[in-house]
Amino acid sequence: MLANTKDVLLHAQKGKYAVGAFNVYNLETAQAAIRVAEREYQPVILALGERYFPTVDVEGFSAMVRALAAKASISVSLHLDHAYKKESIIRAIRSGFTSVMYDGSLFDIEQNIRYTKEIVEIAHMAGVSVEAEIGSLARGAFSDEEEGDGTLTDPESARQFVTETGVDFLAAAIGTVHGMYQGEPNIDLSLLKRIRQAVEVPLVLHGGSGTPDDIIKQAIQAGICKINVNTEVSMAAVSFIQNYLEAYKPVHLSTIMADMQESMEPVMTKFVRLFSNKDANIV
Ligand code: 13P
Repeated sequence: MLANTKDVLLHAQKGKYAVGAFNVYNLETAQAAIRVAEREYQPVILALGERYFPTVDVEGFSAMVRALAAKASISVSLHLDHAYKKESIIRAIRSGFTSVMYDGSLFDIEQNIRYTKEIVEIAHMAGVSVEAEIGSLARGAFSDEEEGDGTLTDPESARQFVTETGVDFLAAAIGTVHGMYQGEPNIDLSLLKRIRQAVEVPLVLHGGSGTPDDIIKQAIQAGICKINVNTEVSMAAVSFIQNYLEAYKPVHLSTIMADMQESMEPVMTKFVRLFSNKDANIV
């Protein structure tokens, strides 16, 4: 069923597990994420980035995901990922997204607070929850996210930000990158613990791809409830298509699309298992 992202994350926070937020852009990516979540009996968040608005019909996409969610045996949330424009946020809210991320991380803290607060007021009137970010992620390999400067989240600023904006969940920058790491990951779990002590809302980890399993497990123990994953799934699908085309079998597009969907599922399954806590009841 379609679920409010905030409810799903508050449940995860109590149960000490994290919910996978997979970036989706079409029917196949959405179906893959829901199928994996159903098989693993875990909730899932489908995340569409503002950067895909020029190519994805937002209203049509939302209607499609909501229809898939209505049939699903687990909780499915529809999230707007990294939105920089107020118009995009209003469009997502109007078309039925269950949460939105306003990314004001390029602004200084005072401006970020002012803009985020306005978004929170609008979204909450529609019953939609809001994620925001302070600090920003650098970009590694194979990602198509914006390049960030890699500034880590300061716990005191996090406290001020959450108190003054009323955001429902906060993305904490602790050294993960969007995309694959170039060199050894340098992830500051002690900083995460300090951020956890400073704020009560569920915390979000961006840059799931390539992050070592033990770091992910420890981050969940330290309060991460939502983990975003994009690049590793994209890489699996692209490498599948490349191999398929190199083998040059005469094939129909419908077959490639169906097999491409299957090629993404093992990667998503790996993450969903890693994020789950077998002892927790799920929402
Ligand atoms: P990765 O591409 O590193 O998995 O990160 C995805 C993400 O954080 C989207 O917001």
